[in-house]
Amino acid sequence: MSWTKICPMNEIPVLGARVVRHGEVDIGVFRTDDDRVFALNNRCPHKGGPLSQGMVYGDKVACPLHSWKISLVDGKAEEPDVGQTACFAVKIENGDVYLQLNP
Ligand code: FES
Repeated sequence: MSWTKICPMNEIPVLGARVVRHGEVDIGVFRTDDDRVFALNNRCPHKGGPLSQGMVYGDKVACPLHSWKISLVDGKAEEPDVGQTACFAVKIENGDVYLQLNP
C-alpha cells in the first residue's frame, strides 16, 4: 500500500466529488461541507449508480439513481437498504489529497 497524490483539496468542490480512475476501478473522492474528504468505490452497492454524481450531505451521499443513502465513512447503505461499497483511506497533507491504493 502506498499513498498516491490525487489533487489539491480545493479542486474538489464542497459538497461534491471528483472521480479518480485506478486500474479498472473508478473512485469517488468526496468533500463534505466541513472539509472532510472520503473516498469510495464510485459504484453504488444497489445497481452501480455513479455515487460521485449524487448529493453529499453530512457524511453521506445520496445515490443519483434511486436515492439510497451511502455512508462516506464506511461505504454502507443506510437501513433498511443493505449493501456496502469499498472505502479507501484518505489523508490531507499540505492541502493535497492522497489516497492509499494497492499498487
Ligand atoms: S443504483 Fe444507487 S440507489 Fe439504485
